Amino acid sequence: MVSTHPTGVQNSGSKYLPQTSNQNTNLSPNQQILPITARINSRDSLEIGGCDVTTLVQQFGSPLYILDEDTLRTASKQYQESFKRYYKGESQVLYASKAWSCLAVCAIVASVGLGIDVVSGGELYTAQTAGVNPDKIYFHGNNKSREELNLAIQSGCTIVVDNWYELHTLVEIAGNKPIRIMLRLTPGIECHTHEYIRTGHLDSKFGFDPNDLDDLFAFVSKQSVLDCVGLHAHIGSQIFERQPHRDLAAVMVQWLSKASGYGLPVRELNVGGGLGIQYIESDDPPSIEEWVKPICEVIEEACAAANLPLPKLLCEPGRSLIGTACVTAYTIGSSKVIPEIRTYITVDGGMADNPRPITYQSVYRAVVGNRMSEPLTETVTIAGKHCESGDILIKNAQLPKTKPGDILIVMATGAYNYSMSSNYNRLPRPAAVVVVNGEANLILQREAYQDLIKQDCLPQRLIQK
Ligand SMILES: Cc1ncc(COP(=O)(O)O)c(C=O)c1O
Repeated sequence: MVSTHPTGVQNSGSKYLPQTSNQNTNLSPNQQILPITARINSRDSLEIGGCDVTTLVQQFGSPLYILDEDTLRTASKQYQESFKRYYKGESQVLYASKAWSCLAVCAIVASVGLGIDVVSGGELYTAQTAGVNPDKIYFHGNNKSREELNLAIQSGCTIVVDNWYELHTLVEIAGNKPIRIMLRLTPGIECHTHEYIRTGHLDSKFGFDPNDLDDLFAFVSKQSVLDCVGLHAHIGSQIFERQPHRDLAAVMVQWLSKASGYGLPVRELNVGGGLGIQYIESDDPPSIEEWVKPICEVIEEACAAANLPLPKLLCEPGRSLIGTACVTAYTIGSSKVIPEIRTYITVDGGMADNPRPITYQSVYRAVVGNRMSEPLTETVTIAGKHCESGDILIKNAQLPKTKPGDILIVMATGAYNYSMSSNYNRLPRPAAVVVVNGEANLILQREAYQDLIKQDCLPQRLIQK
């Protein structure tokens, strides 16, 4: 029986296809589950960036992360253009590279003019190696090591100081040249998202307590080695409401006003990231423009009311830049039918390349990339191949009838998939390609078994004779 989807559409892929030019083009990339270049070609296969996903799998292997350059560039430009349109002051969009840190991704966003937010020595190294200007790198983290702080100082990037311990350490290790810092504060703003990805409520491990503001500003204003250029806050991730960021903007201007009372040259406000994306049909995030506009309006109004000059306004989205720009292609293998209960179909990856379902109970959608127009006749659970019952990528997915060898495409896997991936069960990490105008380039090589034991050491006494 053909399944009847609430939208009335009964074929596999087309209901997820992005809007075409004769339909509504006002959607941002974060509001569409598939990359903006997704099409169904004459072979009934999904095409992204002009490349047939089945051909990509033949060429680069499976599983495969497929990143659409146009989607990433379009989302980046939408952020920049929205700030230009709605903010009279200076602005800078940073890419939160925790979403997906690798050389090619950093290079793409930097080429559009974005800066990069990093949270570790490793992410800093990646951004620098990709050629990102240190003036546009901001280093976060609630427990940066001395080594990381020294690396950050040497690089010349801005350090987003998270706590008193870090502040004192910086004063101790600073040389003669003032260090550019921002202060991260916990705004105490609640938003409705998963507990693990909420960071702005007062009970958070990140940032200074705003009740410490006077002490903090008094301390920092006396440190000639610290050039405190700005204030930062991030309230959480995968947020669909707009009010929390309006509230945040208003609170941050109050902090700014207080800082000026201490003679601090604070001239930048960073409102963090957090804009959500569409993972499933019912997800209805605001567009990038709809997210940026109210933040700009609140900051302009609040600064005018407080008689403050407009600060440079920064934000640091991750998910809404890259989440929907990528899909993961898997190959379908075994299946198990449990009568009256469930049918499992298994793919050649799972929780190691996408730990979000098992970590956050995140929900994804999938299509069969080599039979995009076939009717949705099956309800199946898509399992990964890891030795863990919870290794389920999607429960109750609506798919056409599949067979081993079919290509399953899980959508919106650009953010927090590769970057949170592991080698659980000693599975090599998949390769990743970037696609644009019919061309595919490898951006991450598939790991080999040799890579898995590269760091292993076998003490002499354990070598089998
Ligand atoms: C400090 C900070 N900035 C930016 C981000 C990016 O958030 P998102 O990917 O939701 O835009 C995060 C993610 O949690 C974060 O912790």
